[in-house]
Amino acid sequence: MTRHMDSPWWRDAVVYEIYVRSFADASGDGVGDLPGVRERLPYLRSLGVDAVWLTPFYPSPMADGGYDVADHRGVDPLFGTLADFEALVHDAHELGLKVLVDVVPNHSSSEHPWFRDALRGVGRDRYLFRDRPNNWQSTFSGPAWTQLPDGQWYLHLFASEQPDFNWRNPEVHAEFLDILRFWLDRGVDGFRIDVAMGLYKAEGLPDVEDQAFASVSPIWGRPEVHAVYRDWRKLLDSYPGERMAVGEVWTDDPADLALYVRPDELHQSFNFSWLQAPWSPAAFRKVIDDTLKTVPFATWVLSNHDVVRHRTRYGTDDPGTGLARARAGLLMMLALPGSVYLYQGEELGLPEVTDLPPESRQDPVFKRSKGELPGRDGCRVPLPWTPDGASYGFSADGVAPWLPQPDEFRTLNAQNQAEDPGSTLEFYRRALACRRELARSVPYALEWLESPQGALFFSRGSLTCAVNCGSDPVRLPPHESVLLSSGPVEDGVLPPDTAAWLRTS
Ligand code: NOJ
Repeated sequence: MTRHMDSPWWRDAVVYEIYVRSFADASGDGVGDLPGVRERLPYLRSLGVDAVWLTPFYPSPMADGGYDVADHRGVDPLFGTLADFEALVHDAHELGLKVLVDVVPNHSSSEHPWFRDALRGVGRDRYLFRDRPNNWQSTFSGPAWTQLPDGQWYLHLFASEQPDFNWRNPEVHAEFLDILRFWLDRGVDGFRIDVAMGLYKAEGLPDVEDQAFASVSPIWGRPEVHAVYRDWRKLLDSYPGERMAVGEVWTDDPADLALYVRPDELHQSFNFSWLQAPWSPAAFRKVIDDTLKTVPFATWVLSNHDVVRHRTRYGTDDPGTGLARARAGLLMMLALPGSVYLYQGEELGLPEVTDLPPESRQDPVFKRSKGELPGRDGCRVPLPWTPDGASYGFSADGVAPWLPQPDEFRTLNAQNQAEDPGSTLEFYRRALACRRELARSVPYALEWLESPQGALFFSRGSLTCAVNCGSDPVRLPPHESVLLSSGPVEDGVLPPDTAAWLRTS
């Protein structure tokens, strides 16, 4: 299946995730904001992405970096104003970039007016209050229940400042349809749905033995959730343009993902099996095969604001190896059929920051686990834009960013990389430009080629992708020319931890 003119934009889009508080700070308070994003839109245009996904910028006490939403229809002053948001959407559209926003339907902030009412005993049925807790644990560690002074308990699958909604109450359903309308009316092109396999819990909230994110359990993946997405799909389809939704669905089984992307439900769901796969040809091949067999329109993602950056994940003990693999992994991902989600900073080859001082860490995972789990701050460190200044151009000069940046960020800054043809940033630009030109005109179907030990060769029409995950160099398959490679390729030999795109006849 080749890309036809009438194929919707999202099917093979490259979407760039902006973790707003760490992208660029225009107001000079040390926290990234919407005007900061707006100023940097030309950077994203020249990087070559098709769309941006903005993480929550709604009014929030920031107990979970904004995923604790107190008002789903506003902008927190920390991030700007509604007018700033509208200006951002306007400029993005002028530049040909689509804009996705995060919708957080599983829970609200404990400062949400509905929850404040509930605390006074009004409308508790919008949340999950019980006289006795069950044995569920918070995903952020510790119990999933908090007791109020009047004796009742409320459920929160995440932080205690994030009470779970009761989706069996039709008021919740109606409220979210209205929230989606609010942002669709302001021109957004789609939504990223937080905890998309949450929302409904099994009737009676039974105890569980194992509560890992799973296909279907009393906590996750209840079949009732699909009716919600059918209604959301109808709403999205009722708007002009190709509005879409992508669900955050954590599962090991692509068959689960397929349920969320049935033709009358969500357009896409994240494919986290890809980022969970180790640096191994067999593991990559299995995820690719399982995905393409089961999911109608594939997505691929290597990093986001919740996981260790893939340069470090692939890094063993040697940062050079991690970077080489990260670049090779990108080329492999961009050669696959479907759409790709990038996470801010991966285009600079940023590593996970593993040595943040405990007092600077803000993730509730770190706090709730009493420091036992490092949490996710290490992938959320503000971006370095320039070689100089207190925050390498992230904030105004002299302003400390909300998380400290390591010295290494000085050399990884975007400005220097833009001037260096060998940089990771320039490599990303070339790869995205090449994908735009070529990969979109090749067939959707992928064919495996015979590959030497440790390597993976596949082709889509006249494009062949060769990746060497092993420790010995391998010979490239027959080809007319090398279009692009993630590292040096000479005399038809592909070194370890390197990928190449080849043109074949
Ligand atoms: C998934 C989000 O990506 C994560 O950052 C957040 O902590 C949880 N959902 C809870 O909203």
